[in-house]
Amino acid sequence: MEKKFKRILVTTALPYANGPVHIGHLAGVYVPADIYTRYQRLKGRDVIFIGGSDEHGVPITLKARKEGVSPQDIVDRYHALIKDSFEEFGISFDIYSRTTSKIHEELASNFFRTLYDKGVFIEKESEQYYDEEAQQFLADRYITGTCPHCGNEHAYGDQCEACGISLNATDLINPKSAISGSTPVMKKTKHWYLPLDRYEEFLRQWILKEHTEWKPNVYGQCKSWLDMGLQPRAVSRDLDWGIPVPVEGAKGKVLYVWFDAPIGYISNTKELLPDTWERYWKDPETKLVHFIGKDNIVFHCIVFPIMLKAEGSYILPENVPANEFLNLEGNKISTSRNWAVWLHEYLKEFPGKQDVLRYALTANAPETKDNDFTWKDFQARNNNELVAILGNFINRSLVLTHKYFDGKVPVCGELTDYDKETLREFSDIKTRLENNIENYRFRDALKEAMNLARIGNKYLADTEPWKLVKKDISRVATILNFALQISANLAIAFEPFLPFAAQKIRKMLGMGTPEWNQLGRVDILAPHACLAQPELLFEKIGDDLIAAQIQKLNDTKVANEKANYTPEPIAPTIEYDDFGKLDIRVGKVLECKKLPKADKLLQFKIDDGLGGRTIVSGIAKQYRPEDLVGKQVCFVANLAPRRLKGVESQGMILSAEDADGRVVVITPQQDVTPGSCVK
Ligand code: 2FM
Ligand code: ZN
Repeated sequence: MEKKFKRILVTTALPYANGPVHIGHLAGVYVPADIYTRYQRLKGRDVIFIGGSDEHGVPITLKARKEGVSPQDIVDRYHALIKDSFEEFGISFDIYSRTTSKIHEELASNFFRTLYDKGVFIEKESEQYYDEEAQQFLADRYITGTCPHCGNEHAYGDQCEACGISLNATDLINPKSAISGSTPVMKKTKHWYLPLDRYEEFLRQWILKEHTEWKPNVYGQCKSWLDMGLQPRAVSRDLDWGIPVPVEGAKGKVLYVWFDAPIGYISNTKELLPDTWERYWKDPETKLVHFIGKDNIVFHCIVFPIMLKAEGSYILPENVPANEFLNLEGNKISTSRNWAVWLHEYLKEFPGKQDVLRYALTANAPETKDNDFTWKDFQARNNNELVAILGNFINRSLVLTHKYFDGKVPVCGELTDYDKETLREFSDIKTRLENNIENYRFRDALKEAMNLARIGNKYLADTEPWKLVKKDISRVATILNFALQISANLAIAFEPFLPFAAQKIRKMLGMGTPEWNQLGRVDILAPHACLAQPELLFEKIGDDLIAAQIQKLNDTKVANEKANYTPEPIAPTIEYDDFGKLDIRVGKVLECKKLPKADKLLQFKIDDGLGGRTIVSGIAKQYRPEDLVGKQVCFVANLAPRRLKGVESQGMILSAEDADGRVVVITPQQDVTPGSCVK
């Protein structure tokens, strides 16, 4: 039987404060968690929604080093940016705090100390790579070298991305520090390990037996971790950025970021509710739900529960509805390659369109498999669904009411069979939405909500109230009352998904606080109640805006290709005499035209100072003939003539091809006399 809970505690993965957040974050974690929480609030449940930034870890220190600022500067900058982006997108956290807060440092430190005092940890000395130049121990990821398997010279200390094999840093041939480039040395160091292996039985029982309802992707990943067998994991690091390990003899050591970050959920709750936070974390009548991406499954389903279990006074998560990944235009989102739609940029480029992105991301959420975000889909979702279905229906209902009933909710007469049939189609909307949302199927829930708007549109199209005004105004009143009641249903149904639009609908309909229990009813709006002036909920997004976004991504692609561009290897050495055989001249383009039936070829008439010559050159894709007339070019003058498409070419025009395949004709820096030699 399904367990009943008194209260709900929703957490979202704490994003690293070393960069802005993008659509992948929103789609995978924050929008689903926000939908879930808003829904629970609408139902009147006791729910709190906890978020915050993850401000420790090696990448933050590296970024700071690169920029010549302190790690605190980095996290201050990105914490503010991330917090702001979430707020703008209506992610309705009760608190969005950070892991550099005093409360967190104290709580995380005490948590470690409790486990330490209980004798939970294994203390172990081992040899690890140390960068003498940077004076720090190196995490596996920050050592590169040659893969012993495939010979790739750029393998990382934890994995070779060329052949995919998992590695230990000590496996690498010719290891180098990614921080300073120097060769690291082995150095002894002591760390505290959480013996995950001792909790295998507990996890098998708790997850594999008691939580068979978890999403298949989450359950499957947990099972495979357990089947592979767990190993003790170090929960401390040699680093000068983080929460100091609170035991003697631990100078220069901090808590591993993955030890302190999930404790952030607890400390942020404590910051929000200093007096009552324990109710949410220690009472088994609280339902704890962690929203995360699939890369965080092991930490939330295995490591953190073990920490909680070992501590002894905390509850465990009831569910961890992790999502798969969202790709962008067919490629994996990548921060380092700038392949992303950054939320702070979207907000500037699509002002006031937060709901459009929330909608597109939910409609296409990576709930069961990786999914792809494309700008064309985004445009289609907006134009064909939000504008054409939802916006259109609400607008028509309001405009017609203003036109025929002076902006007041008309009185409903007797419902016809058709009205009753329509009502039957959505009377169970509440149960349908609940079933989907409670089971973390937000895509399906959204489809149900949009379907209600479709029902509304069809109702107006079928009943055609505008044709009945003269004949039967009381029937028109019933139809519009009915349409307005559907609109009120939509204001409630869409509130978790599109909070900004839902609020606008409520305002136009003069509704107060929405109540979930009203869903499926047609007496939400009182007769004679005044409606506000209708305003458009959504507007069409034109091809130009979409083309600009696609262009932006193409520019990123080109920039990435350039960054990775390795020029062709230099050709074998030639003797001076060989070079001397080449006769390169400057000439002026007198005429230039496309060669018929050859899409790449241009035919030139060149003034070479010696009476002129014809040259055929394969640059028709890059240049329009008229743009070259009058320009000076360099050409090989003593090349044996060759026939191209029936025209004799007497030489070759010189051009350079750059990283992205662009061909540029070589011209002298200043005009010179045609026929001048190039030496
Ligand atoms: O993967 C990440 O972005 C981590 N910063 C998530 C941490 S979740 C939690 F444990 F705080
Ligand atoms: Zn390899």
